[in-house]
Amino acid sequence: MKKLDAKKERLLISEARKAARKAYSPFSKVEVGAAILASDGRMFSGCNVENSSYGLSICAERTAAVKAVSSGARSFEAVAVVSNLEGLTYPCGACRQFLSEFGNDIVVIVAAKGGKVMRHGLGELLPETFLLKK
Ligand code: THU
Repeated sequence: MKKLDAKKERLLISEARKAARKAYSPFSKVEVGAAILASDGRMFSGCNVENSSYGLSICAERTAAVKAVSSGARSFEAVAVVSNLEGLTYPCGACRQFLSEFGNDIVVIVAAKGGKVMRHGLGELLPETFLLKK
């Protein structure tokens, strides 16, 4: 796994925390924030956005990824994920697949409210990834 420098990691986590405050989650009350560091140095953040038709809800990670790609960033270095839950919040399976499209070894940083931080390569969280692109 690549290593992200400590300053960038702190900034990414703080962007994710800011984004979590914008969560629209009246149903689950879970507030998730994600921040992506693109290879060009830009950061994009996002929150979960739920819907009365529950299945239409979108996770924070995919919100951030869609913002990045729609801003022209197609290669990701790292993503930080935080929430208001106790303990660490890991990207769901759908988000792991979605992110894998944009980086073969994205560093996934999960940070708990209490300060615990864990780092994983995306390939470790989603082995034998399905990808059509080379
Ligand atoms: N959620 C995320 O935003 N990211 C994840 O990786 C896990 C789950 C959101 C979706 C839903 O709004 C709430 O958390 C509860 O599942």
